[in-house]
Amino acid sequence: MEDLSPKKGDLDPIETASRDEIAALQFHRMKRSLKHAYENSPFYRKRFIEHDVHPEELKTLADISKFPFTYKNDLRDTYPFGMFAVPQSKLVRIHGSSGTTGKPTVVGYTQSDIDNWANLIARSIRAAGGRQGDILHNAYGYGLFTGGLGAHYGAEKLGCTVVPISGGMTERQVTLINDFKPRIIMVTPSYMLSILDEFRRQGLDPRKSSLAVGIFGAEPWTNSMRAEIEEAFDMHAVDIYGLSEIMGPGVAQECVETKDGLHVWEDHFYPEIIDPVTGEVLPDGQMGELVFTTLTKEGLPMVRYRTRDLTRLLPGTARSMRRIEKITGRSDDMIILRGVNVFPTQIEEQILKCKGLAPHFQIELTNPGRMDNMTVHVECAPDHADAGARAAAAKELAHHIKSVVGVSTKIEVKDPGSVARSEGKAKRVVDNRVKN
Ligand code: DLL
Repeated sequence: MEDLSPKKGDLDPIETASRDEIAALQFHRMKRSLKHAYENSPFYRKRFIEHDVHPEELKTLADISKFPFTYKNDLRDTYPFGMFAVPQSKLVRIHGSSGTTGKPTVVGYTQSDIDNWANLIARSIRAAGGRQGDILHNAYGYGLFTGGLGAHYGAEKLGCTVVPISGGMTERQVTLINDFKPRIIMVTPSYMLSILDEFRRQGLDPRKSSLAVGIFGAEPWTNSMRAEIEEAFDMHAVDIYGLSEIMGPGVAQECVETKDGLHVWEDHFYPEIIDPVTGEVLPDGQMGELVFTTLTKEGLPMVRYRTRDLTRLLPGTARSMRRIEKITGRSDDMIILRGVNVFPTQIEEQILKCKGLAPHFQIELTNPGRMDNMTVHVECAPDHADAGARAAAAKELAHHIKSVVGVSTKIEVKDPGSVARSEGKAKRVVDNRVKN
């Protein structure tokens, strides 16, 4: 694969600034942002008063721990526009988070927010190995979801030629990749696997495609999946992270030259890791829940937003800004099976070890006789479809899961194409437990 390390002068100065410079900028911006939230968001004014804190009390960055957390429910309780810190007429865009139930949580952007977002996505694409002039195939969904339009504006900002295909119509995705010859693709990793299947169905060699870099995010995926996709397409696969409440994609980005976790764009977002139960701030290096305070957002400033995403903070490498380790999962997606914590990403890793299986899977939870049971529905690889190969693959996977993850599972090896596909985020867990 091509060496895509950045050239001298490619980076924003802040990407290689000293930690002291970054901290000084963060402190200045955090102070301004807390003041903005307090003065312009009735929600935050009330919250700060209830907790007996005032923006003036921020004397160091660490003082942020004196301020109260913000939760997803706060957005739900103030639906639709109750948390905004500017009049609606100053907002140029609304997005919504991809909640699966009920009403979306609504987020809003001023023109300055959109400009910052586009710059950060441009920075992210460049960190992934994208350059001005590249054709970029954007298969993140367009609409209320932040993936499509977020990536789009940033790609244009970098000077890419964007193909705004959105998710779905997989056959056409493959046709356009072959005809337009994009160098970059932005898509969820699970949908990339559907695109891979479609390449093979059409008798095309994915390794011969024009794609050199894939920027994959919006859902957890593992380093094993990275290896699988890189090998299949002969391309670089890097991780992009974000959430609508904080901005959308481009809050953190992995660099192509190191692929060692995602650099948080700390000039715009201040990260903390906390103990999800006690709320206590944990030192860098320890696993916990990721919390963000926005430093430049006008429309919807967020103070200590609880992401529910589990990871740890690591020192900078390819950039001065700290990294988050690849996200293990969300605390909401954690399955507790007979006392053992299980994340879908752990199951993904074990599936990818089995030659006879394809990486399309769904976990079903049931509770016959009140005991929680887990069944992994997974597809056989097309060349391992006979009964003997399926039984062997099921046995192998059950063994890996038992010995590495520590739980007994039932494995259903299914026909190729029979596990539900998504055109965006994959639904990994189906909970069919009956409430007793
Ligand atoms: O998923 C924004 C996004 C779009 C990110 C495109 C990357 C690419 P939401 O729909 O609000 O926003 O969902 C945010 O998705 O809290 C994580 O749980 C999960 N997530 C996003 N990126 C990653 C990633 C977008 N790279 C929620 N790894 C977040 C693991 C991710 N989980």
